[in-house]
Amino acid sequence: MNYILISGLVILLLAVVMVFRLGWELLQQNGRMLLRMEALEKHIKEKAERGKLESGKEETESGGQKAEVDQTDQSLLTSAPTENEQGRANRFSNHSLANSKIKRDGLKAGTMAPEFRLPRLEGGELSLSELRGRVVLLVFSSPHCGPCNALAPRLEKFHRKHPELEMVIISKGEADENRDRVEEHGLTFPVVLQKQWEVSREYAMFATPVAYLIDSAGVITADVAVGVDSVLDLMTPAARLLRQSAKAARPPLLKRLARWPVRILAGLLQWLVARLTTAKSKIDTFQLMHFKFVPRPDDIFIVTYPRSGTTWMQMILYQLTTDGSMDFAHISDQCPWFEHAPGSDDGFEKRRAPRLFKSHLSYRSIPKGPGRYIYVVRDGRDVAISYYNLYRTHNGYKGSFAEFFELFMRGKAVYGSWFKHVEGWWKHRNELNVLFLTYEELTRDLEGCLRRIIGFCHLEVTPEKLPLIVQRCSFAFMKQHESKFDPALETLSQHGVKLNSFIRTGRTGEGVRELTPEQQVRFDEAFRVLSEPNGFARPTPAPPIEAAAPNRNVYAVS
Ligand code: A3P
Repeated sequence: MNYILISGLVILLLAVVMVFRLGWELLQQNGRMLLRMEALEKHIKEKAERGKLESGKEETESGGQKAEVDQTDQSLLTSAPTENEQGRANRFSNHSLANSKIKRDGLKAGTMAPEFRLPRLEGGELSLSELRGRVVLLVFSSPHCGPCNALAPRLEKFHRKHPELEMVIISKGEADENRDRVEEHGLTFPVVLQKQWEVSREYAMFATPVAYLIDSAGVITADVAVGVDSVLDLMTPAARLLRQSAKAARPPLLKRLARWPVRILAGLLQWLVARLTTAKSKIDTFQLMHFKFVPRPDDIFIVTYPRSGTTWMQMILYQLTTDGSMDFAHISDQCPWFEHAPGSDDGFEKRRAPRLFKSHLSYRSIPKGPGRYIYVVRDGRDVAISYYNLYRTHNGYKGSFAEFFELFMRGKAVYGSWFKHVEGWWKHRNELNVLFLTYEELTRDLEGCLRRIIGFCHLEVTPEKLPLIVQRCSFAFMKQHESKFDPALETLSQHGVKLNSFIRTGRTGEGVRELTPEQQVRFDEAFRVLSEPNGFARPTPAPPIEAAAPNRNVYAVS
């Protein structure tokens, strides 16, 4: 009996334990199911959200104004394996978003701004490092983003108010659509193009409009600004930063005060050096003319007011005296500038006959002797135009033609008044050792002029050589060999002198075309004062400008 009772109790106990165990396991399973259901719910929710993202973009609200956010990571998309393009994009964009290690929440203040080099819309390239030392407002934009288009005019306005700020838009899309936007908003600052989101990715934000304020050391000064209002909010710190930079760039007061006396002293010294140089050159010329230079009957002086055909005449004389040789490095070796000749220590004693000289001296100053003087005059209006161009290309002159014309008319250009120069020589045109020629007749009838020069200088030129000489004295030939004529070519090219501009156009009549009616009247009146008492006629009217084209006196070499 006892035995039966004990066995019944044990069975009951086992049954209770099993029931408890069953209950416990049921509870556990239920818990797991609940967790699983929760997970499933979450998964479904996530899937629904991703479904929205699959369309590529969504608009999110930011600071009251919208920013367009791109949720796809293009670089990851391209590496995905797949069956169909759309499916691949969706599946892997979702995958990339969930698992991507790419930062998408923007760079923080204090981060070094990542370097980029991108093509500029208007050509060339722009890199961030080029802007180092300046405050930069870097704005990511896109031509199809509505908020960006609302922002653009505000950026332009700020840029105009603070031109010292480097404003740069990094846009994407086609160049033409971006150009349309630039034109529409009248943007005057650079717009560069990224292909996809490659630079946005470096700046950890796949959205537009987004902006970063970068200081002169290339450091981002505030957290990323997303959306129109946040970008506009950056303008206050930007203006502050600009003020600070300007202040830092300003030298201390003591230095600023000390600058003035130093400047004045430098100016004074410069003035003194210029005066001393002029005085030295005057003494040299005086010494040359009165003590060193012994005139000879074989001397031929080519005299002109600058830009009247001096170099041309130098070449003509060299050709006529060498039977058309081109055996010279520079024309000044063969025909030195008399009053500027630095190598004239020997008073030109050792030069072979006939001695050729170029000079711009007035009749009063030229050394008188038994030699010959060929004076070339050119229409003063053409001289003014040509001289102005020489001033700009060789003397670094920055003024306008109107300002130069004023100098020219007042006789303040180098070598003084054209009117007085011409008048001085015109009065002696009939002397036996003076030949008075005009640039215009040289242009019209070069061969005829060469024959007159041959006769005047008693030169012996082989008749068969004359066509070759005429050809070599043509504008085209001399232009082709300009380095042999331009005094500045060799020595000054390194000092910024614009090369190949000494032998310029070789045209006549440019002055008539270029001078304003007021300038014409002024020139005519001064010319009347010169010509009436002296009977000096204006050089025979120049041929029409088309007919006087640079190549017109090219002769075929037979
Ligand atoms: P433009 O500037 O009008 O072209 P100079 O030698 O006295 O400085 O004169 C220079 C002027 O003579 C320049 O005039 C130059 O072009 C012109 N010139 C030089 N060689 C020439 C040539 N072979 N034929 C015509 N004009 C020439």
